[in-house]
Amino acid sequence: MIILGIETSCDETAATVLHGAGNKIKVLSNVVSSQIEIHKKYGGVVPEVAAREHVLNILPVVNEALRKAKILLAPFVKGGKKIDAIAVTIGPGLITSLLVGVETAKTLAYAWGVPAVAVNHIEGHIYANFINNQPKFPALILTVSGGHTMLILMSGHGKYKVLGETRDDAAGEAFDKAAQLLGLGYPGGPIIAAEALKAKNKNLSLPRPMLNSGDFDFSFSGLKTALLYEIQKDKNWRKRIPDYAYEFEQAVADVLVSKTIKAALKYKVKNIMLSGGVAANLELRSQLDQAVKNKLTGAKLIIPEFKYCTDNAAMIAVAGYFRAKRKDFTPWQKLKADANLELTK
Ligand code: KG4
Ligand code: ZN
Repeated sequence: MIILGIETSCDETAATVLHGAGNKIKVLSNVVSSQIEIHKKYGGVVPEVAAREHVLNILPVVNEALRKAKILLAPFVKGGKKIDAIAVTIGPGLITSLLVGVETAKTLAYAWGVPAVAVNHIEGHIYANFINNQPKFPALILTVSGGHTMLILMSGHGKYKVLGETRDDAAGEAFDKAAQLLGLGYPGGPIIAAEALKAKNKNLSLPRPMLNSGDFDFSFSGLKTALLYEIQKDKNWRKRIPDYAYEFEQAVADVLVSKTIKAALKYKVKNIMLSGGVAANLELRSQLDQAVKNKLTGAKLIIPEFKYCTDNAAMIAVAGYFRAKRKDFTPWQKLKADANLELTK
């Protein structure tokens, strides 16, 4: 099966062509046009600007994905190949951004006469783990992005139970806000991580919110406020930015790793998977890797390649492929963007 994947839920315009056979996935192209440089000066994503950029970029990006995958479209090219389905992110995300991808997918599905597959963005992040691996169920997924922080139990393809989620800020959002407080740029996650590597004194102390709350929920808004209070007390904080970045990163990683291990033990999972933009964080990756090795027997950790952690269309195409295998298509007339789409809907 050849799938075209389209993703425009936030500030990345992305398209992928993927070949799937059984459980084997081959990504033939993965094109991402990032708008980070444009939104940087505003300190975050401006929805209207993002939508306008998506409109400009979407067709060139889709074309590039087809060209890189060497797909000459039948029936337009004699002897060309056929796309078997178009997978598109319908939510959650910024509604104005989502609409561009959804309307493009609708148009192409109608014009090419191929079925469409509606994909949840979080499900896409989960399926980034299926690109180079064949995870076993039950599996536990820690999804950590700019908009979400969730622990999800996956008992089979498309079968999810949300065990816990953030009550306020998402982990990525916390990194972004902490970076803003420290006068660093956007997006904050990679900058905080780079600063943390330069830390000299590791003696600061920030709270580990909800570490022992007895459930699988998270809360990161208080951590950001705690950081604000600490720097307000410290006249020399500007000279100690790496130390603050280090402690902040440690606090976030400690809570995420501890709760993930507790959930993995409780539900006796076979695989633990990491997904979302914050999965690119090296400290989180290595702490989770160590904890899985030390505390869990028989469970294996899977982490997507860097390029599949942050928003991309390959993950959407993979999630779409497994839905298409189950014949879970959506007629193009019924494709609808939903900014608040739930994973279990
Ligand atoms: O999944 P993603 O690309 O977009 C959303 O769906 O939100 O995640 C973006 C988030 C941003 O908050 C960014 O700061 C964070 O992922 N991020 C990181 C790292 N790289 C990206 N956070 C921590 N460490 C990183 N290396
Ligand atoms: Zn995302």
